[in-house]
Amino acid sequence: MGRQDVILSTGISDSLKAAVERIVHDRLFVLTDETTLRLCWPLVSQLPCVQGAQMITIAPTDENKTLESLAHVWTALQKGGATRRSLLICLGGGMVTDLGGFAASTFKRGIAYINVPTTLLSMVDAAVGGKTGINFGGLKNEVGVFNPANAVILDAEFLRTLDRENLLSGYAEMLKHGLISSTEHWVELLSFDLDNVDYARLTQLVAQSVKVKERIVEEDPHEHGIRKALNLGHTVGHAFESLALEEHRTVLHGYAVAWGLVCELYLSVVRMGFPRDKFYQTRQFIKEHYGQFPFTCKHYPRLLELMAHDKKNLEAGQVNFTLLADIGDIRINQTASREEIEEMLDFYSSEQ
Ligand code: GLY
Repeated sequence: MGRQDVILSTGISDSLKAAVERIVHDRLFVLTDETTLRLCWPLVSQLPCVQGAQMITIAPTDENKTLESLAHVWTALQKGGATRRSLLICLGGGMVTDLGGFAASTFKRGIAYINVPTTLLSMVDAAVGGKTGINFGGLKNEVGVFNPANAVILDAEFLRTLDRENLLSGYAEMLKHGLISSTEHWVELLSFDLDNVDYARLTQLVAQSVKVKERIVEEDPHEHGIRKALNLGHTVGHAFESLALEEHRTVLHGYAVAWGLVCELYLSVVRMGFPRDKFYQTRQFIKEHYGQFPFTCKHYPRLLELMAHDKKNLEAGQVNFTLLADIGDIRINQTASREEIEEMLDFYSSEQ
């Protein structure tokens, strides 16, 4: 897998121009979704480097990360005369960068693409690291390829367009990066004031966060080993997210990850001796900002089932976790018994 160029932008005009000029291309396309078109495209539309670009717009949100939207992008590229030397800019959140990256990776067996993530979640996670794909057959990210963008542009100006919930959602992945990297970075993250956002400081934290992910992806691009560290909080988080979806109480991905982090850190305390003080501090921060995911023991069988079906599991029916012995001390491929998982859920729900 090639190395992607992650650009910390101090002005979208110069950084996008430089990235577009570096890639020799015949035609330029911009993919975005209806929400991003309204909120973020105005920050880009006047730039000389995108004049003449053909726009492709898809419906927003993860529900539309489908084969139909993908076909719409392929059709627009085809009708717009795209060749193997064309370039696609994916402007939006994780849904746009995932689907756009997959469209670019497969159209004529692969054209160049640039990610311009506009949400915190996509800046620190989805747009970086080369995972592309769509949801299929009721399963998230079921079909896709590993193929990094030629460039990823991180520009903090877009963060000002986000509401508090979406900011918090992305911040959960940053907390995860803190937990899997160093106590120093984790302390910085817990002391950041999310009620009074200092965007310059947030930009520095985003840069650090992306470096954590880049380091891991570079070591293990196809997730055979250490990349599984990035799944911390996600085994339980995905189960909460799926349960919420089934019960029509939608939760943002990062909120589910934050709640999942509390559960999996509890398991880390019990199984790996993760320090209790660091666990309590993280739990307190998450509780204060993200609240709690409400469920009762009647939900346990379904939650266990959802965890058992997670595509991260190595063996059918056995739940795979990434745990920590301390901050930055990662233990991948851990399994837990049914009793341990239920004890974890008991602990979490007794906290409400
Ligand atoms: N979102 C986790 C990863 O990119 O591996």
